[in-house]
Amino acid sequence: MKDALKMSGRMLLPALAALLLLTGVVLLENRPAFTARERQMIRRSDSLMYVTVLPLDSAILRTPSADFTPRELSSKDLRTLLDKMLFTVQHPSQDGVGIAAPQVGINRRAIWVQRFDKEGEPFECYLNVRIDSLSPELVRGPEGCLSVPPQRGIVPRHSAVYVSYLRPGSSERIREHVEGYTAIIFQHECDHLDGRLYIDRADTVFVSAPWAEERKAFSYDRPVWW
Ligand code: NI
Repeated sequence: MKDALKMSGRMLLPALAALLLLTGVVLLENRPAFTARERQMIRRSDSLMYVTVLPLDSAILRTPSADFTPRELSSKDLRTLLDKMLFTVQHPSQDGVGIAAPQVGINRRAIWVQRFDKEGEPFECYLNVRIDSLSPELVRGPEGCLSVPPQRGIVPRHSAVYVSYLRPGSSERIREHVEGYTAIIFQHECDHLDGRLYIDRADTVFVSAPWAEERKAFSYDRPVWW
């Protein structure tokens, strides 16, 4: 009897450890994608998302963004986020040529870029995107940012880049060489994902009056939980 008790006591620990491990795996598997705050922002009813601006939202705009996990990459919330980001960048109140997730309050590596180098100039989205290398040649041109109204600046950028990214619904990492204005948009949007803004790189920054007037015509609702 005593031996039997000793035996079952010895079995108990491994059994408990296995149970704990199993519970951990089940909890991880069922862990919701995105944080509660991110889900709340993504699932709001309106398609037009609040666009983060300086100086009010500098904490978000200056925070480096994290990659999406495999679970998040296949989630409905990601699809919703991307749809809303596209709606927002194309909305007459914004009218941008690119947008990064921190600009809608989500510190994740997702961007939309208008591909001026493709026929029809379509908007395309890129996930867990990175700039792998930059051409040595610099070009200077005017830039603005939805998050830095109402300024514009003259910014030196590399004339060509190699970018790598995932496309929605695919786990295959794609590497692409991009040149010209589209390469500048990639640099601008990827900077957002690293907590950088064009004003950090600009030679000169100036206030663009017509743009300021245009934006005044729209009112912006800042979510209460911000
Ligand atoms: Ni921007």
